[in-house]
Amino acid sequence: MKLQLYVPDGRYAPWIEGFAQALPEAQCVTWEESQGQPVDYAVVWRPPLEMLKGRRDLKAVFNLGAGVDGILRLRDTDPDALPAGVPIVRLDDAGMGAQMAEYVTHAVLRYFRRLDDYAAQQQAGTWKFLKPNRRADFTIGVMGVGTLGAHIARTLAAFGFPVRGWSRSPKTVEGVQCHAGEAGQATFLDGLRVLVNVLPLTPETENIIDAALLNRLAKGAYLINVARGPHLVEEDLLAAVQQGQIAGATLDVFRTEPLPPEHPFWGEPRITITPHISALTLREDSIAQIADKIRALRDGRPIAGVVDLQRGY
Ligand code: NAP
Ligand code: GLV
Repeated sequence: MKLQLYVPDGRYAPWIEGFAQALPEAQCVTWEESQGQPVDYAVVWRPPLEMLKGRRDLKAVFNLGAGVDGILRLRDTDPDALPAGVPIVRLDDAGMGAQMAEYVTHAVLRYFRRLDDYAAQQQAGTWKFLKPNRRADFTIGVMGVGTLGAHIARTLAAFGFPVRGWSRSPKTVEGVQCHAGEAGQATFLDGLRVLVNVLPLTPETENIIDAALLNRLAKGAYLINVARGPHLVEEDLLAAVQQGQIAGATLDVFRTEPLPPEHPFWGEPRITITPHISALTLREDSIAQIADKIRALRDGRPIAGVVDLQRGY
């Protein structure tokens, strides 16, 4: 069995070593050294167009992340970019749910406990009690309650916050008030103090966080975007922050990454910026999950995480 790897930074050695341990029966080759040779599986992150187009040898393509927009976007350049009939398989949590829950919980607690206000007071040498927020008034909405969103929502509910979730199809998540579809969107959004975005990027969800959506939230709400940059209309967020509709935002993802030095977000102190680190691909967990799925496919067992190409996630 042959696995063909593509990682944009070209650091192949730890992946090859990891697969050699987890799947000793497989031979691992890099895309660069094996172009044109038939293999069984491709394991990729943001592959180039020429890697997948027209391939007839592949049994599956494994994506080294939860979001598959980096593969599906190839269809924008060439409608035949993806190998026909070959399943594309995303990572299913693989250690990302816990990381995202930590990141989002940290941001929520920082806002809820007014820690930025206390930091500003410290700068000014001020010792002053500030009126605390009431937990019951601090409703948090998680947009996208799939693998990662459900983990985030459950974690926040365990802190006692009122939590709402929104998905395409109806869901049940313990301790979370769930809403679904376009019909459920307004009830989900209305009056939220914190909106967390963890949707996949698809034609339906691109630009979803715009002025109209932000205006549905409570005055002085917070935004946490851990999904993808193109979900957010960046100029609408800047205007909402300047108008006080949004009191602060924590953004892990951007339309252009790295965020260009001249971008206005850098100069807005109410916007916190991190470089796409809210949930990293953990090499060991990811290799173990992909190896298990390859064994399942070989034995004819079903696997989770197969992408629906029509839906786009
Ligand atoms: P997932 O399990 O596929 O969950 C996606 C959720 O979004 C599902 O609940 C789905 O609804 C919902 N959804 C999709 N389209 C929708 C629409 N048009 N309207 C309403 N709800 C919609 O994906 P995941 O594993 O949780 O990952 C989510 C995203 O997180 C990834 O796609 C990726 O972009 C992002 N991510 C970011 C990082 C980072 O470091 N910043 C790391 C990992 C992932 P249904 O349940 O009804 O299908
Ligand atoms: C990272 O952004 C991922 O989609 O896994």
